[in-house]
Amino acid sequence: MQTVADVAVIGGTGFYSFLTDAEEHAVETPYGDPVAPVAVGTVAGRRVAFLPRHGRHHEFPPHRINQRANLWALRSLGVRQVIAPCAVGGLRSEVAPGDVVVPDQLVDRTSGRVSTFVETGATHVPFGDPYCPRVSGALLGAAPDVKAGGTMVVIEGPRFSTRAESQWYAAQGWTLVNMTGHPEAVLARELRMCYSAVALVTDMDAGAEQGESVGEAEVYALFKANLERLTGLLTSAIDALPDPDGCSCSSWADGLDLSYEIPGS
Ligand code: ADE
Repeated sequence: MQTVADVAVIGGTGFYSFLTDAEEHAVETPYGDPVAPVAVGTVAGRRVAFLPRHGRHHEFPPHRINQRANLWALRSLGVRQVIAPCAVGGLRSEVAPGDVVVPDQLVDRTSGRVSTFVETGATHVPFGDPYCPRVSGALLGAAPDVKAGGTMVVIEGPRFSTRAESQWYAAQGWTLVNMTGHPEAVLARELRMCYSAVALVTDMDAGAEQGESVGEAEVYALFKANLERLTGLLTSAIDALPDPDGCSCSSWADGLDLSYEIPGS
């Protein structure tokens, strides 16, 4: 199939559109419909696909997002590199609301989500380093104030964490908490796509402060206030994305007989 886009951005809470000259592609997948038609436009000379992770009107809470359909749809349009902005809570004093962080590790605390394309056979995807070093590098170089590293724990949601949970996550040394980063990252890896998250800290969750615990309004307000900054950062990162050929995000499957289909390849 002809490549329609080779880069994708999956926008999180508060981030529902990115492209100005977009055409829309309604993509059918074996896993049902993605959350929205995929918008495709040009950014920094690259053909870029955009999906609003929660739907165009935030119809899908974290545990109801059809992440398999989203990733499959992007790959079927030719996408090989995915940038995944997301709203996160901060767990430790190294980060503060307004910080943009490129995490380097992920802990899965979700439950009940279908988190693989593997239905049969012996395909075991390597996931020791869940994020793409090349895409993360482009994000880190996109603005001087982007912070490097940290572990993002992904909770099931849709509720926020209790204070005890939040303090426990922090005590593990984890830096960020979020509700959507898994299984998105591993599904991208299964489809041999490069994938990195870029996290905007919107609040300090429930444990790091003694005052009010986090609420939805705080998350939206912080994201809205930082949207222009984030889109500028994404544009610079897209401009700097290196070639995905030969990256370990896809080469792990070289010579393997995968037990599921990879569309567009
Ligand atoms: N997304 C934004 N803030 C969050 C938090 N505190 N916990 C989980 N997901 C979040």
